Amino acid sequence: MNILAIESSCDDTSVALLNFSDTQVKILAEKTASQIEIHKKYGGVVPEVAGRTHAENIIPLIEEIMEGQKKPDAIAVTAGPGLITGLIVGVEAAKTLSYLWDIPLIPVNHIEGHLHSVFLHPDQSFSKIAFPILCLTVSGGHTEIILMKNHGVYEKIGGTRDDAAGECFDKVAKMLDLSYPGGPKISKLGKDGNPDAIPFPRPMKDTPDFDFSFSGLKTSALYWLRDNKLSAAHINLSALPVGIFAEPQNPPTLEDFCASFEGAIVDVLTHKMLRAIERYQPKTVFLVGGVSANKRLRETLEKKIKQYDEALPLYLTPLPYAMDNAAMIGVAAYWKAKNKNFTSWRDIQANPNWKIT
Ligand code: KG4
Ligand code: ZN
Repeated sequence: MNILAIESSCDDTSVALLNFSDTQVKILAEKTASQIEIHKKYGGVVPEVAGRTHAENIIPLIEEIMEGQKKPDAIAVTAGPGLITGLIVGVEAAKTLSYLWDIPLIPVNHIEGHLHSVFLHPDQSFSKIAFPILCLTVSGGHTEIILMKNHGVYEKIGGTRDDAAGECFDKVAKMLDLSYPGGPKISKLGKDGNPDAIPFPRPMKDTPDFDFSFSGLKTSALYWLRDNKLSAAHINLSALPVGIFAEPQNPPTLEDFCASFEGAIVDVLTHKMLRAIERYQPKTVFLVGGVSANKRLRETLEKKIKQYDEALPLYLTPLPYAMDNAAMIGVAAYWKAKNKNFTSWRDIQANPNWKIT
């Protein structure tokens, strides 16, 4: 079965053509047009600009990957959650092709796509992975713990009450005048820094639920930058509240700041995830979403799970598929296609607030 997949929920226009056997997925062609350079100057994604750029990119990208290929058996598209300006472009393109080619249409939830990104590992046979799977989904828009009981059967265990982890990385990076997306830049700077240099708070770490809150940590970072004389060259002073700069004896470096900030996020995420593992006793653990590319997060979660249970498998999204991409949308659609879970082109609608559970 061949599925053409489209993803345009944020700042990447991505298309992929996938071939499925009963045990494996093969990517026949894929192409992604990133809008990072366009949105960089605004410090974040501007919805109207994103929508227009998706509209310019989508048809040429589909034409490019479909060159010389036979008509697919189905078409999958991200229908939500995300920016309505981008979702509409993807959904309208998919709808039109479904009608013209007379092939079934499958709307996919973006988060469900991230959950399935693990299956894009080249040697990942579908049958190897045991349910239930406890998934930590961390991206620019979402921070959630989801129990995946089967393909299409999910239970939300916890989630962020304010900012997503990636959003927090991006906002603090902006305070440091680092360009969007800031997560990878903070991570790179913090690589050789001391994660214990600054005792940032660990919001909600010890609450009995599985929820997160990152806006307080972001504010702590802001106040720390206001009150300490780091390297002024690296700080966007106009983004800081007015305050008096102190003169500490051995001021932490920019690298220490980044390592400590990143360490606080990783500590909260991995601590809560471990508690969720103890409580829900999954057979498999997934780490997915854009922030899953974070090395400190990958390594810390891996270490903590090994200490807890050496036999519990942790699967990480292959790095090229951690950020938004169409291939993961195609994989999530495969199980719906197998069950003939299709939606008519007449009925599909973009839903920016579509909840997975
Ligand atoms: O999944 P994604 O591409 O888009 C959303 O669905 O939101 O995730 C993008 C997010 C951005 O916030 C970006 O800063 C973050 O993932 N990110 C990282 C890293 N790589 C990407 N955050 C921390 N460390 C990284 N290495
Ligand atoms: Zn995403």
